[in-house]
Amino acid sequence: MAGLIKIGVLASGRGSNFRAIAQACASGRCRGEVVILLTDNPQAGALKIAKEFAIPSKVIGRKSFSTRDEFEEAFVNTLKAYGVELVCLAGFMRILHKPFLEAFPKRILNIHPALLPAFPGLEAQKQAWEYGVKVSGCTVHFVDAGVDTGSIILQATVPVLDDDTPETLAARILEQEHRIYPEAISFVAEGKIKFEGRMTRVLK
Ligand code: GRF
Repeated sequence: MAGLIKIGVLASGRGSNFRAIAQACASGRCRGEVVILLTDNPQAGALKIAKEFAIPSKVIGRKSFSTRDEFEEAFVNTLKAYGVELVCLAGFMRILHKPFLEAFPKRILNIHPALLPAFPGLEAQKQAWEYGVKVSGCTVHFVDAGVDTGSIILQATVPVLDDDTPETLAARILEQEHRIYPEAISFVAEGKIKFEGRMTRVLK
């Protein structure tokens, strides 16, 4: 699979974005290869998806390490051992710190289920619904030391309907997540992202 960027996915939960990425790579829509799935949660649905796609996976539990740095180092060491060039967070429920960020400069992506900079953090769909916005969506961005603050690559919008609940809104947003995350990964994989300060441009 020469020429494909090696992707490591980190997921803590059900793994539907991981599935979308794995599918896009397997079908050739995304010029990448998922070489490892890492999780901090032995119950993560993502582990089953890894099996389905024959992608190696590993559980790295926080309790096996006395310090946060050692815990994060275990992720970095495993990603490096698999030759990972691009790290994709897909519902990974932890904030990454300096040693991890410095190991993969401008090489860590995240998907967030709101139109950043609105509604960062947890339960973004519920936050947006409670606020009463008429449009919401999702954002793929680079990860920096803040919470959902890194440079934005792609966003997609969805309407918020009068009879929505946080759950129906989340489902509408999730469909768009599955579409734009592989697309954003392709841009990075193909070297099409140019930085202008905190802004990114997609080269034609
Ligand atoms: C998604 O809504 C994603 O935007 C957020 O966490 C959720 C993960 O869902 N960061 P899944 O595990 O990919 O299904």
